[in-house]
Amino acid sequence: MTNTNTDFDPSSTEQWKLLKAQASRAGDLSIANLLESDPGRAQQMSVAWQGLFFDYSKSLINSSVLGTLFSLAEVSPLASSIKAMVSGEPINRSEGRPVLHSALRNPAKFDFSVDGGNVAELVDKGQAQIKDVSDRIRSGQWLGSSGKQITDVINIGIGGSDLGPKMACRALQQYAHAGVRCHFISNVDGAEINTLLKCLNAETTLVVIVSKTFTTQETLLNAKTALAWLNQQLGLANPESSSHVLGITANRDNALNYGVPGDQIIEFGNWVGGRYSLWSGVGLSIAISVGYDRFVELLDGAKAMDEHFFNTDFSENMPVILALLNIWYNNFLNATSTAVIPYCERLNFLPPYLQQLEMESNGKSVTQNGDDISYRTGGVIWGEPGTNGQHAFFQLLHQGTQLIPVQFIGAAKDTLSSEEHHRILLQNMLAQGAALMKGHSEADTPAHARYPGNRPSTTLLMDELTPFNLGALIALYEHKVFAEGVIWGINSFDQWGVELGKKIARQLAQQDGDSSWDASTAQLLKRVTAS
Ligand code: F6P
Repeated sequence: MTNTNTDFDPSSTEQWKLLKAQASRAGDLSIANLLESDPGRAQQMSVAWQGLFFDYSKSLINSSVLGTLFSLAEVSPLASSIKAMVSGEPINRSEGRPVLHSALRNPAKFDFSVDGGNVAELVDKGQAQIKDVSDRIRSGQWLGSSGKQITDVINIGIGGSDLGPKMACRALQQYAHAGVRCHFISNVDGAEINTLLKCLNAETTLVVIVSKTFTTQETLLNAKTALAWLNQQLGLANPESSSHVLGITANRDNALNYGVPGDQIIEFGNWVGGRYSLWSGVGLSIAISVGYDRFVELLDGAKAMDEHFFNTDFSENMPVILALLNIWYNNFLNATSTAVIPYCERLNFLPPYLQQLEMESNGKSVTQNGDDISYRTGGVIWGEPGTNGQHAFFQLLHQGTQLIPVQFIGAAKDTLSSEEHHRILLQNMLAQGAALMKGHSEADTPAHARYPGNRPSTTLLMDELTPFNLGALIALYEHKVFAEGVIWGINSFDQWGVELGKKIARQLAQQDGDSSWDASTAQLLKRVTAS
C-alpha cells in the first residue's frame, strides 16, 4: 500500500510557517510592479497545454512565495496520494472506497478488481450501453410505447446526478441534436416538473432516472410524478418497465426493485463519487444531445488532463498551481471566497457545478484521522458569466473591502458568435483582469472613484469551447480540489455534512405538528401545515 500519510498536518511544516511570514509582508507585493519589473513573469507564470492557456501572472505572489507553495506540495503526501488514487487504494477512508472517476475516461489503465468486480470491464460495459442507447435515440430507432420516436429526454436527478450533465449539455449546445431536446429536473419543487410535463408529449418522451444510490428523496418523488404522468397519458400500468424509462445508478438492486428492467439500467461503480460522475452513465444526456463520438472527445479531454496531473512536475501542473494559489489566498491572505467568471454564456452552469465540486468535497473540518483542524479548508465558490457580472457584482470586486480572487475563463474563438461580439466579449474579460490589478487612484481622484487595485486574478483561455477542452477544464478542477484536500489533510470524497438535514426532513415528514421541535421550527411548521 502506498504511504498517503494521513497524519499530515500542513500547519506544522516549515513551509507553512514560512508562508505565514511571507504573508505578513504581502502588503509590499504589487502585482503590477512585479509584472513591470520582471519581463519574464508573464511567461513564467503561465502554462500552455494542448488547447488551454493558463495565465496566473496576475496572482498576488512573488517567486519566493510560489517557491514555498511548491515546496509545501512537495512535502505533503500529494505525490503518494495521486499514486494511491490511481492504484485503487481506498483513499475515501470514511466510506472505505477507492476513488476512480479517472477510470471512466481511461478504463484500460484501471484493469484491476474492486469488491470482486473488474473496474475496466464495468466501465467498458457502461460505455457500450451509453453508445447503444444514445445512438438509438438520436437515429430514431428507440421508440416509445405507441411506436413514435423520442423527441424529449428528461434527466431526473439532483446534485452530481444533475449539475454535471446539465452544465455539459448547455456548454456544448452548439453540437446539440436538432430533434431531441434534453431537460433537467432536480428540485423537489413540483412547479418545475409540472410546468415541464405540460409542454411535453408523453408518447415521445424518455424519462431517465439518475441516482447513484437510487434512494434520494427529491429524485424519487420527481420520478414518481413523471411515471404517474406516463401512466395517465399513455395508459401504461407499469411505466417504469416501459421503453419510456431508463435508470442510471451505482445501486442496481435498488433500480431493479423500483421496477426498471435490468437491460434499461446503466450501472457505474460506487467508487465514482456523485459529483465526479458525469463521465459515467450519468452523462447519458450529454451523449444523447451531442452524440457518442463527442461524448468520447469529452472523456478524452479529461483523460489528457489526468495524465497532465499525474505526470507533470508540480511547478508546471495546472491543477496543483490552482490548488496552491487557493491555499495561499485562503489560509494566508484571509480570502474566504473565489469568483469564477466564465466569459461565455454557455458556461453559465459552470459556477454551480464547481460549487458542488469544491464545497461538497472540501467543506470539512476534521482530518482523515478525525482530528479537528486548526486552519481553514474549502472556500466559497460563486460566480456568473461576464459581461453580465460586470453590471451586477463587479462593483464589490473592484471597490469592496474583501479580497476575492477571480478566475476568468474564456475561449479565444467562438464559431457560434460573430467576430464583433466575440472581440468585445474577450476585450471585456481582459479589461476586468487589468482593472482589478491596476486600480486607479491619482492624487486628484475623489475617494469614491478610487480603485485600490492589486486584486488578483487568473485567466484560463481555451482555444475554443470544444468537447475535448471542456473535458480537460472539468478534470482540471476535479484534480485541483483533490490536491487542495490532500494538502489540507482532509477527505475530499465523502459528504457526511449533507446527512443531518435529510434525517430531520424525514422526521418532520413523520411527525407533522409534533410539539417536540424547537420553538422556532415549531411555529414555522404550524404555519406551513396550516396553509
Ligand atoms: O446529498 C448529497 C448527494 O449525496 C450528492 O453527493 C449527490 O450528488 C446527490 O446527493 C445525489 O445523490 P444520488 O445520485 O444518489 O441521488
